[in-house]
Amino acid sequence: MSVVKRLCRIPSRAAIPVAVIAILSATAPAAKAQTPPTGFSWQEIGARTFESTCRVCHQDNGQGIAGAFPPLTENVTALFAQPNGRGYLVRALLFGLTGPIIVNGTAFNSAMPPWQQLSDEEIAAVLDHVLTSFGNDQRLPNPFAPVLPSEVAAARAQPMGPAQVLALRALPGAPQAGVAASTPVTFTSEQVERGQRSYRSNCQDCHGTTLDNGEFGGPVLKGMAFRQKWTAGSVVALYSFTKEKMPPDRPGGLSPQNYVDLTAFILSNNGYQPGDKELPSDLDALGKMSLKP
Ligand code: HEC
Ligand code: HEC
Repeated sequence: MSVVKRLCRIPSRAAIPVAVIAILSATAPAAKAQTPPTGFSWQEIGARTFESTCRVCHQDNGQGIAGAFPPLTENVTALFAQPNGRGYLVRALLFGLTGPIIVNGTAFNSAMPPWQQLSDEEIAAVLDHVLTSFGNDQRLPNPFAPVLPSEVAAARAQPMGPAQVLALRALPGAPQAGVAASTPVTFTSEQVERGQRSYRSNCQDCHGTTLDNGEFGGPVLKGMAFRQKWTAGSVVALYSFTKEKMPPDRPGGLSPQNYVDLTAFILSNNGYQPGDKELPSDLDALGKMSLKP
C-alpha cells in the first residue's frame, strides 16, 4: 500500500475539525460581530457542529439537495420570524422532523433524525450559525437575539416525537401535500449478499454479528427504535448518513455501490423483502423511494 493511501486511511479525527474551523472563522467576520451580550460565544461551536453533523445532508452553503434535503436559507429565517419559530427550530433539531413540508416553494417529504446526542450549547450554537450564514444574516430581524442553550434545555425537558414537531411547523395555509418518497423501495437478494460480505469486513466489529450486539459504541441497526428513526421518509437519509459517516475511521471510504449494498443488507434485516430491481445509488432516485411500511 502506498504511503499516500495509508495516510488517507487514517484521517486524524481531531485534525480535520481544527483545520475546518480555521477556514470558517477566517471567512466569517460578519458573524463574529454579533456575539451577544450574554457571553454565549456560539461562532466556533456552531461552525464545528455544522461541519461535523449537518453539512452531510444540508451541504456546504446550506443549499440542500433537491428532492432529499431541504435548504436552510429563506425558510429558516422565515420560520425564525414566526411567533413560535425559534421553539420549532430547537425542537426540529432535538426531536427530528418527519413528514411533508414545503421549503422555498418545493415539497419535501422525508425525515431528519433527532440530534439529542448534541449538547444544549451545540444545538443552540449550530442554529445561530445557520441563522447567520448562507446570506441568512441579511434576512434576520435586527437586533438578532441568538438562540441560547437555556432554550434548548427547556425544550429537552419535554420530549416529543418528530410528527408533533411537524405539527408545530405547520403555518396557516401551508400546503400539506408531499410529492417525494412515492415509490416503494426496491433491492435484490444479490445486493443483500454483497452487503453482508461488506458488512462483515467493515462494520461488524462495532455493530455486531446480528446488528444489535455491537461493541465499541456501535448502536443497533435493526428493531423498532432504529426503524422509527430512519424509515419515516425515503431511503436517502439512511444511505447518505452511512455513506458520509461510516465506517468512522474512513467515512465515504467505500464505493457508492458498496454503500447501497450495505443499505439493502440493513433493510433486509429490518423486515423489507428483496425483489427484482436493484437499489440505485442515485440520490434523486433514492429520495423518491419510500420506507413507509
Ligand atoms: C441525514 C440527513 C440530515 C442531517 C445530517 C441533518 N438534517 Fe436537517 N433535515 C433533513 C431532512 C430530510 C429534513 C426535512 C424533513 C422532512 O421532510 O420532514 C431536515 C430539516 C431540517 C430543518 C427544518 C427546515 C424547515 O424548513 O422546517 C432544519 C432547521 C434542519 N434540518 C437543520 C439541521 C441542522 C442544523 C443539522 C445539523 C445539526 C441537520 N439539519 C442535520 C436531513 C438532515
Ligand atoms: C469503529 C466502530 C464503527 C464501525 C466500524 C462502523 N460503525 Fe456505524 N456507527 C458507529 C457509531 C459510534 C455510531 C453512532 C455515531 C453517530 O451516530 O454518528 C454509528 C452509527 C451508524 C448508523 C446510524 C445508526 C443510528 O440509528 O443512529 C448506521 C446506519 C451505521 N452506523 C452503519 C454502519 C455501516 C454500514 C458500517 C460499515 C460500513 C459501520 N456503521 C461501521 C460505529 C461504527
